[in-house]
Amino acid sequence: MTRNSAEKYTAFAPFYDLLSAEHPVYGAGRRRLIESLAVRAGDQVVDLGCGTGLNFALLQHRVGPGGVIVGIDRSAQMLAQARRRAGRHGWDNVILVRADATTMITSEVSEQITDAGGRGLSRVGLATYALSLMDPWERAWENLWQLTRSDAQLGVLDMQRPTGLSAPLSPLARFACRLGGADIEAHPWTALERDCTQVRAASARGGHLQVRVGVKPSGRPGS
Ligand SMILES: C[S@@+](CC[C@H](N)C(=O)[O-])C[C@H]1O[C@@H](n2cnc3c(N)ncnc32)[C@H](O)[C@@H]1O
Repeated sequence: MTRNSAEKYTAFAPFYDLLSAEHPVYGAGRRRLIESLAVRAGDQVVDLGCGTGLNFALLQHRVGPGGVIVGIDRSAQMLAQARRRAGRHGWDNVILVRADATTMITSEVSEQITDAGGRGLSRVGLATYALSLMDPWERAWENLWQLTRSDAQLGVLDMQRPTGLSAPLSPLARFACRLGGADIEAHPWTALERDCTQVRAASARGGHLQVRVGVKPSGRPGS
């Protein structure tokens, strides 16, 4: 993520939910991803690059009060919005950690999570519209991997150029990604396809939104 795009998420954090085209465009991918992940009551879920916590309501519905949501983001301002959201809804099972996903020491983050009342490793891990902003996103993927148990459900939702009949909307999609600081050519779901088993794919909005879910196998180096 460039310095400029980091600043975007500082200045625009209070307006992110309003300006992020959630209802017309991006909410569709979020719902598709979270419906596809087998999230169970009581699970701990780690949401990497959680932003203002737009995933939290859908996740809360599934994990229930016995579950835990861990949101990690490097922007204090985005986390402040996420904290407000949790407070407004009375969700006391949300743990927020400020960290850069590409450079964080995962053992230290795990410690922060347990200190805050969570479990060290999560059974579900996801990153929505986040990895394509992170540079290098491969490091962030590795770190998400380290924060989850073997047999975890993993999910990535990110963006590419629209395809087929929607291909003419490509300039609009590229503009939206540039505005948000995302690299539309990053295609970070390819790491999930490479590393996970039982991979399932879906897309929405003319292929612009790409959803992948899979299971983290035991036995991969670093797992
Ligand atoms: C487009 S927003 C998406 C937020 C949320 N996941 C969603 O679906 O609405 C991208 C988020 O990634 C965060 N981010 C970008 N680079 C990061 C990094 N290296 N480490 C942690 N968070 C990062 C930004 O601060 C921002 O909150």
